Amino acid sequence: MRPTQAPYPLTRLRRTRRSSAIRSLVAQNSLSPADFIWPVFVREGNDVQEPVPSMPGVMRRSVDRVVEAAREAHDLGIPAICLFPYTDAANRTEDCAEAWNPDNLSNRATRAIKDAVPDIAIMTDVALDPYSDTGHDGFVRDGEIVNDETVAALVRQALSQADAGVDIIGPSDMMDGRIGAIRDALEQQGHHDVLLLSYAAKYASAFYGPFRDAVGASGALKGDKKTYQMDPANSDEALRCVARDLNEGADMVMVKPGMPYLDICRRVKDAFGAPTYAYQVSGEYAMIQAAAAQGWIDGDRAMAESLMAFKRAGCDGILTYFAPQMARALQS
Ligand code: PBG
Repeated sequence: MRPTQAPYPLTRLRRTRRSSAIRSLVAQNSLSPADFIWPVFVREGNDVQEPVPSMPGVMRRSVDRVVEAAREAHDLGIPAICLFPYTDAANRTEDCAEAWNPDNLSNRATRAIKDAVPDIAIMTDVALDPYSDTGHDGFVRDGEIVNDETVAALVRQALSQADAGVDIIGPSDMMDGRIGAIRDALEQQGHHDVLLLSYAAKYASAFYGPFRDAVGASGALKGDKKTYQMDPANSDEALRCVARDLNEGADMVMVKPGMPYLDICRRVKDAFGAPTYAYQVSGEYAMIQAAAAQGWIDGDRAMAESLMAFKRAGCDGILTYFAPQMARALQS
């Protein structure tokens, strides 16, 4: 539907751009701290905060420091924090058993945050890559990433996270059938209110590079993830993934990466009207930070513009490493 439009000079489109007051009156989208989920990296130790070199401004934090970060996020009006463990090498094994250890790093951080900052929502990641010696999200058998055996392990991982008290479980592994299997298990165990935010349309992307450094998986990863993550050439397949995951019991869905896949965000939102999120991934963050550090772009403006793009594309929220920085900018 295109509204009729009087010809120039009856219509001058510049009229609605002429002052900041008028521009804000006609603005169709806005950003708020309530739009953000903040991904944070957790490591062992006490009172440690260690920079991730490929993600300037991002830290790996010990549990006590993650609790501080959660408090800061809550004070800024950020509703949710997403935990990613940086697992010690000794806990990366072929059977990935650390993934469902009730006392693993992610579960300890969950309990500590729930104690100290009960009102912030906690999201965790379901996938085997932080715990495997191969860097893959699933078990590798004879060179293949096996689906069904992996799903059984993901269910154990998800249940241990629910037992620790997380609000939102984010399966990021791209195995088939995992949403249904996790949903069934959660229902059976009485975890009726735990949300599933499915990484439904997750692409095999070069933009995850800095994240794999941050969680210590880059060295280990042999090969690529193309047999389970999506081909960047495809768009219809993303809709099939989302439809499948919603049918299996996902409450919210994600498109990942973000900026190169805004067309997918829009298609998903239009087709399903479900709560839809984009992940502005590590490589997107690193590019903006690197160019800003060189003085080649204005970092604050590029941050705000990149995040607004997700709202314009129909997303209800964004997972972004910029969450606290953008929330602070919105306050000032
Ligand atoms: C692992 C996982 C990845 C990210 C989130 N969960 C990496 C991967 O699939 O290799 C990427 C996040 C980012 O790049 O910021 N299952």
